[in-house]
Amino acid sequence: MNTFKNKTAIVTGAGQGIGLEICKQLAAQGASIILNDIELSLADEGARSIQKEKGNCIPVAGDCSEVAFIQTLIDAGLRNFGSVDIVIANAGITLFGDFLEYKPEDFYNVMKVNLGGSFFLAQLAARQMKEQETGGRILFMSSVTGHQAHKNLAAYAMSKAALEMLAKNLVLELSPYKITVNAIAPGATSTERTKSDPDYEKTWSRITPIGKPASIQDIASTALFLVSPEAGHITGQTLIVDGGWTSVSPSPIKVRMSMIQFTTTLHKFDKKGEKTGWTYLEISAKQAHQLKPNCKVSFRIKGSIDSYAFQKTALLPMGDGKFILPFNAAMRKATGKNWVIR
Ligand SMILES: NC(=O)c1ccc[n+]([C@@H]2O[C@H](COP(=O)([O-])OP(=O)(O)OC[C@H]3O[C@@H](n4cnc5c(N)ncnc54)[C@H](O)[C@@H]3O)[C@@H](O)[C@H]2O)c1
Repeated sequence: MNTFKNKTAIVTGAGQGIGLEICKQLAAQGASIILNDIELSLADEGARSIQKEKGNCIPVAGDCSEVAFIQTLIDAGLRNFGSVDIVIANAGITLFGDFLEYKPEDFYNVMKVNLGGSFFLAQLAARQMKEQETGGRILFMSSVTGHQAHKNLAAYAMSKAALEMLAKNLVLELSPYKITVNAIAPGATSTERTKSDPDYEKTWSRITPIGKPASIQDIASTALFLVSPEAGHITGQTLIVDGGWTSVSPSPIKVRMSMIQFTTTLHKFDKKGEKTGWTYLEISAKQAHQLKPNCKVSFRIKGSIDSYAFQKTALLPMGDGKFILPFNAAMRKATGKNWVIR
C-alpha cells in the first residue's frame, strides 16, 4: 500500500516503543521518515531497521524539547524529502513522584518535553505546512492518565490533559490551512520498557475489559488512521485506545502503586566480622518509605525473571538510614544484577 507516498513524516522519541512502530508502519506505506530520538544509538538503530525493509528513513538524534532543535527536524524533512506533511509529537517522559515531595526540576522537565516539545513541534510544522499550501497532519501522544487520576503521576497526567486541549484549541487557528490536529490517549501499552516488570502483562490483562494491554501495533495503526487522507474531516479530537479500561476504570493504584527500580549486587551479611552466609539487598530510607506493606522482589537472571513476595516488616533498619532485606533460601539461589521491588 502506498497511502503515504510523497508524504514526509517527522516522529519524535521514535528510537523505540510506540514511536518506532509508527515510523515502521508509515514507512511501509510509502512515507519518508525523519526519525528522532534523544539517544543517538536508538535513533540510528531504529532508522537502520526501517532502511533494512527498504523504507525511506533518516535518523536525526537530539532533544526535541529544544525549539532550535525542532527547527533542525523541520529543515531535515525539507532538505532530504522536500516537504513536511505529518508530525507526530510522540516523545514523552514519565517522572513518577509523590505530589507533596515533587521537585521543581522534575516538574519543569516533564513540562518541557511533554508540552514544550509538542507545542513547538506543532507550531514550527504548521508554519511550514501553511507555506506549502497542501494541508497537513499534527498528532499528539496523550495518555489515559489525562482522563483518570493516577497516584504519583500528577505532573505527567496534567501535561497529557493539556495536550488534548491544545489539539482542540488549534482547530481554530489551523483548520483554515487544512491542517488537522488530533491526539491519541493510549492506555497501558506493552513496550520493551514494560518487559522489565514481570507482572505488567498479567496485571493489565486482568483489569482491561478487552483482556490485555495495548500493543505498540494497536497504537501505531490508530496513529496511521488519524494522519491518513481518510481522516481529513477529523480534527480537535482525542482517540482513547485502552481496551475499554477508561470506561470501567478499575484502579491500577491497588496493583501498581509504587515501583522502585534500581541496580545492585548481592551483599554478604557480615555482622561484627562474622560471615553469617546471609545475602541481602540494600535499600535506602527513601525507597523503603515508598514500599507497600506487601512487596515483591524480582530478579532478572539471564533473561528469565523470578519473583518472591515479602512483607515490608522483613526490612531490617541498619541505623544509618538504610535498610536491608535478608534473603531467604529461595531468594539466595538467585544471582544477577537487576532488581525490581514493588
Ligand atoms: N507505553 C505506554 O504504556 C504509554 C501509555 C500512554 C501514553 N504513552 C505515551 O506514548 C509515548 C511513547 O511512549 P513509549 O512507551 O513508546 O515510550 P518509550 O519510553 O519506550 O520511548 C520514548 C522514547 O523517547 C525518547 N525521548 C525521551 N525524551 C526525549 C527528548 N527530549 N527528545 C527526543 N527523544 C526523547 C527516549 O529516548 C525513548 O527512546 C509517550 O509520549 C508516552 O507518554 C505511553
